[in-house]
Amino acid sequence: MALVPYEEEAAGPRQLHSPWATFHFASRTIRLQQDWRRLGVAAVVWDAAVVLCAYLEMGGIDLRDRSVIELGAGTGLLGIVVTLL
Ligand SMILES: C[S@@+](CC[C@H](N)C(=O)[O-])C[C@H]1O[C@@H](n2cnc3c(N)ncnc32)[C@H](O)[C@@H]1O
Repeated sequence: MALVPYEEEAAGPRQLHSPWATFHFASRTIRLQQDWRRLGVAAVVWDAAVVLCAYLEMGGIDLRDRSVIELGAGTGLLGIVVTLL
């Protein structure tokens, strides 16, 4: 585990400040709007969501005929990808 101090004034992780985040999953391009300055952690895509999307796309869990609910969806990437898969 790592603790990474984040300073707003420093350059910081660029992807959090980008107004758009684009991903390619399930043969589709998914473009999500982000707003770190106004809404903070709830309005940016977290790396954990991207990693889980990649895992699911690889067939890590059989999603056929399953009902899935995403809690704390944020920008909704995971729910979108699960629906596409
Ligand atoms: C760290 S963000 C992660 C967002 C998204 N899962 C991702 O990976 O990009 C945590 C999310 O949980 C939501 N959240 C926090 N507490 C919650 C609660 N009690 N019920 C539902 N969502 C909650 C926040 O609004 C935020 O969108």
